[in-house]
Amino acid sequence: MLGGTADFYFFNGPTALDVIDQYTELVGRPNRIPYWALGFQNCRYGYKSVYEVNDVIANYSKANIPLEVAWTDIDYMDRTRDFTFDPVNFPLSEMKKQLEYLHAHNQKMVLMTNPAIQRNSTYDPYARGLEKNVFVKNADGSVFVGQVWPGYTAFPDWFAPNTQSWWSGELKRYFDDLAIDGMWIDMNEAASFCTGSCGSGIPDDVVPQLPWEANPPPVYRPLDTGNKILVPPYTIHNPWVELSNKTIETTAVHANGVLDYHVHNLYGLMMSTATRKFLTSYRPNTRPFLLSRSTFAGSGALVNHWTGDNESSFRDLHVSIASMLDFGIFGIPMVGADICGFNRNATEELCARWIEVGAFYPFSRNHNAIGEKPQELYRWESVAEASRRALAIRYALLPYFYTNYQRAVENGWPVARPLVFQYPEIAATAGNDKQFLIGDGLLISPVLTQGATTVDAFFPKGVWYDWYTHKAVKGENKEVTLDAPLEHVNVHVRGGSILPAQVPAMTTTDSRKNDYYLVVAVDEKNRASGRLYLDDGETFDTPHRWISLEYKNGKLSISPDSGSYNVAPKLSKVVLLGVDGVKSVRVENSKQSSAKISLENGSTTVEGLSIDLNKRSTVSFK
Ligand code: GLC
Repeated sequence: MLGGTADFYFFNGPTALDVIDQYTELVGRPNRIPYWALGFQNCRYGYKSVYEVNDVIANYSKANIPLEVAWTDIDYMDRTRDFTFDPVNFPLSEMKKQLEYLHAHNQKMVLMTNPAIQRNSTYDPYARGLEKNVFVKNADGSVFVGQVWPGYTAFPDWFAPNTQSWWSGELKRYFDDLAIDGMWIDMNEAASFCTGSCGSGIPDDVVPQLPWEANPPPVYRPLDTGNKILVPPYTIHNPWVELSNKTIETTAVHANGVLDYHVHNLYGLMMSTATRKFLTSYRPNTRPFLLSRSTFAGSGALVNHWTGDNESSFRDLHVSIASMLDFGIFGIPMVGADICGFNRNATEELCARWIEVGAFYPFSRNHNAIGEKPQELYRWESVAEASRRALAIRYALLPYFYTNYQRAVENGWPVARPLVFQYPEIAATAGNDKQFLIGDGLLISPVLTQGATTVDAFFPKGVWYDWYTHKAVKGENKEVTLDAPLEHVNVHVRGGSILPAQVPAMTTTDSRKNDYYLVVAVDEKNRASGRLYLDDGETFDTPHRWISLEYKNGKLSISPDSGSYNVAPKLSKVVLLGVDGVKSVRVENSKQSSAKISLENGSTTVEGLSIDLNKRSTVSFK
């Protein structure tokens, strides 16, 4: 903020989740994502060809690591211009083949689009935009020209009356060429490599090769202290750069003469609105998937978010947890950082540790910068193994993630939460940015330091169960040192919760076809509860189903309580954590085959069930 008039809203809670509920009621609830968005995704800046990306897709499957979405960065474009395909390295015909291949394997494709449009009269999107008067202007009425990937660029002015129809028109041509599954909108702060209208006055056909070879080069201008719009009295007090450094400058002019000064921070939000509007009109009943770098209050209703260009370092791995938790608070719960880190080379150890965290980011994507060493999850055996193990948990718990995401859609409640949300009365949880919960039932305690093979994890009061061994850990409001060899991430289930799960497969589509199972983790009173939400995961008008799950007095009650969505797979297994010595199982209201019971580390696993989740039923354990 640079000044002006502020409206204040107060949200009284009383709990943190209540505050987020009240805030997202005001600014807009998180958008409904397609189910596939919860799968693991791979990206990098600097893939040399569509063939290289084909190899990456194949290598994931060879390594038995689930890959849901193959992303391509600006590399696919012809001279990094939006809506084009490099005719040599990423020809449209080969991109189409890749898309067909992905779809045949229940996988998806997402591509990059930037707001900046090359200022070149022979480039049709620019020529059409000029004709429709859609670009941000200089004070003298000429087009404001910054510099982004394709050289000198104009910026769409989302306030101008024709911009939506022009943008939708360009996107329609592009989607008619290649029916991609989701969009990545970037550089929409809006970023520019120079300061000010650096291309104004330079002839149309001059295209600088690279950002750092800009003409004039991106040097800092002397501060124009006489101009209160360029150098306002209340700025960020960064002595090196001016407020408008490397972005649309505050003196640029939007439709109706509105200065950028007043609306600068809305750029990404408005691009998100326009892009989502296109997607929902192009495919009216399909939930769009959109990822945006710039966000504002209310962006969560339109887009999802990654935390931008981080670094391949243990420090940034650690920081990614706080960033993810922040965006949950902002009402943008579908968030994650670039797994293994963007800038600089990732080491094997870092990448293994990162996927152990990233497998639990709501938005889980490996992304790398151009020129850095490859870091796809199959590149090192330890990373591949860590990935298979951690992603197997994510994929097993997709129904749990999706149920929690629906809580976000309905109440704003974040998917990834800090411990303090669940235990506000325990002071020690307040500063904890090293662990996090998914929903209220799953605790992730990752290694965040180089060389460590143990982790000191805080366990709030109550009982917790190791995901792998089922052994109980008694929570005493203090840290417990846990073994954490390189390929292992500590994951615990909170006593008192029931987590809905499904036998994991290599894609979310295939996982959704497998049998369900429940992880019932009892508290000290031998009780647990949870919920399961389901719908088709694709459309807006799908029927849904909410199912309540409750365990007490040795009985598990399954109660579908709203909706009519038909849950096809059966519930075939129940894992009771903290319940020992079960000898027999009886299922009411359901024809029952013989169940197989096995006991291990104070837990009971019952297999061979075939329970219809569309009906009310009770399972008794004796
Ligand atoms: C920006 C994005 C990054 C992307 C790069 C090239 O730096 O933040 O994710 O890879 O641009 O498009």
